[in-house]
Amino acid sequence: VNHLLGIKYLQESDIQLIFETADHFKEVINRPIKKVPSLRDITIANIFFENSTRTKLSFELAQKRLSADVISFSSAQSSVKKGETLIDTVNNILAMKVDMVVMRHSSPGASHFLAKHVNASIVNAGDGAHEHPTQALLDSYTIREQLGDVAGKKVLIVGDILHSRVALSNIFALQMQGAEVRVCGPKTLIPKYIDSLNVKVESNLKKALEWCDVANMLRIQNERLDVSYFPSTREYTQQFGLTNELLNELNKDIVIMHPGPINRGVEITTDVADGKHSVILNQVENGVAIRMAVIYLLASKIKN
Ligand code: CP
Repeated sequence: VNHLLGIKYLQESDIQLIFETADHFKEVINRPIKKVPSLRDITIANIFFENSTRTKLSFELAQKRLSADVISFSSAQSSVKKGETLIDTVNNILAMKVDMVVMRHSSPGASHFLAKHVNASIVNAGDGAHEHPTQALLDSYTIREQLGDVAGKKVLIVGDILHSRVALSNIFALQMQGAEVRVCGPKTLIPKYIDSLNVKVESNLKKALEWCDVANMLRIQNERLDVSYFPSTREYTQQFGLTNELLNELNKDIVIMHPGPINRGVEITTDVADGKHSVILNQVENGVAIRMAVIYLLASKIKN
């Protein structure tokens, strides 16, 4: 299939191929000349119906490093505001001879819908609270880089699991590679289906941190929250915020991740986010190589 709609639809061998391809591109983008001519004949549209900094810019950079032609679209400045539908919007973009569409949308399943209804390769850059496959790939790639392998590692995901596409894609990707995953957060922000995913829930952050090799700290997705949600930000920070004091009590090696954007002082303090255990900017750096690999592998299928 010429799409990347979710980690759920990949095999472990697909992930390994993406990582091996990303290894090559990571070496390329560290050269003085960071570009390869591979995709000179491919045109890609990045269409974003939700805000983004990291995903949008790193897809764009990845495509430019591969020499693809790139156009970018933000719904806020588009004719969507005049009532144009998603399908009409994309079909008009495709009429300009575009081969691939990278889309972020607030509705879960939006990229599946698009893949069914238009004739182009679709990459999901985040669909509501459903999946964010390239984020999970770059997260696992960063764990592999830091710890040598993902298999056998204990990975904790902390925070708003209920509204997080990063959590769901990470759970699928990590388990597929043989890691053990636990989540930690307030009951109100843990989805009811978590048991069916073979993921244990831990309510005490310190105990959960004692268990894990890697902790991935998530942001509370205020934009998807009902205002009446419990707990309050202050209560959340007291129980689930990661501080240097807590890390010092653990006195062990631990890899601290965060997909961004960070709410400093809420889910993670500044000294931890910028501290020696943090690989947050490594994640961002790896995002370019991973997205180059994804785009390159999908484009190879279009060309053949
Ligand atoms: N991690 C992530 O998806 O960040 P953006 O929302 O800035 O793209």
